[in-house]
Amino acid sequence: MESLWNQVDEYFGGHLTPQDHALEEALATSAAAGLPAIAVTATQGKLLEVLARITGARRILELGTLGGYSTIWMGRALPPDGDLVTVEIDPAHAAVARRNIDRAGLSDRVRVVLGPASDILATLATDGSEPFDLIFIDADKPRIDAYFEASLKLSRLGTVIIVDNVVRKGDVIDAASDDASVRGVRRLVDLLSRESRVSSTAVQTVGSKGYDGFILALVVQP
Ligand code: SAH
Ligand code: DHB
Ligand code: MG
Repeated sequence: MESLWNQVDEYFGGHLTPQDHALEEALATSAAAGLPAIAVTATQGKLLEVLARITGARRILELGTLGGYSTIWMGRALPPDGDLVTVEIDPAHAAVARRNIDRAGLSDRVRVVLGPASDILATLATDGSEPFDLIFIDADKPRIDAYFEASLKLSRLGTVIIVDNVVRKGDVIDAASDDASVRGVRRLVDLLSRESRVSSTAVQTVGSKGYDGFILALVVQP
């Protein structure tokens, strides 16, 4: 099945995500610098761009920049005066990302912030940051629930929150799992099942990154 999923991803990607120099360079420079090949796929990146456009996002927050691949997809949906803050803990990743974002012509609206996501989220909250319209949570998975809660504090009615990698090849259903990432995701799902301010669902995905999925959440009460 994996080979078929790949072919289908390539088919849709080939037709719906045209060849693109900045995005290809972002992946090539990331690989050359030894970054792990864990960026979203082209079809997933396009989904992020389409969601950003659907929401008319002017302010986007991303946790987990890596080489800036998903950042570029979302950044392209922004108007010229829009802002994207992307948070990365690893200085080497951030350096690769800044060059890629620059090459994509997005440095005027994208800021790569170096530091642990929890610290930056706390700083944004205490600084009274304006709420974000779209938030993509894609940093370390064991703290995924804490990142979601902190993201809610940076949201408004109508904010869309996407959380990547919540299926984990199906391991998410294992209530006895001792995998810190699975446990983090399961705490997040418990939180969402009780959280009346948010309407959410999970979408399973297959494709060139195998079997995984994301949570799509909408803030329905301030
Ligand atoms: N969003 C990227 C992929 C991100 S991979 C894309 O799809 O293109 C996850 C990234 O999160 C890695 O670069 C990793 O260094 C970073 N990360 C891990 N722990 C973090 C933390 N505590 N705070 C911020 N970033 C973190
Ligand atoms: C990993 C992280 C991701 O954000 C992802 O999409 C896939 C894998 C990882 O840390 O292995
Ligand atoms: Mg991810």
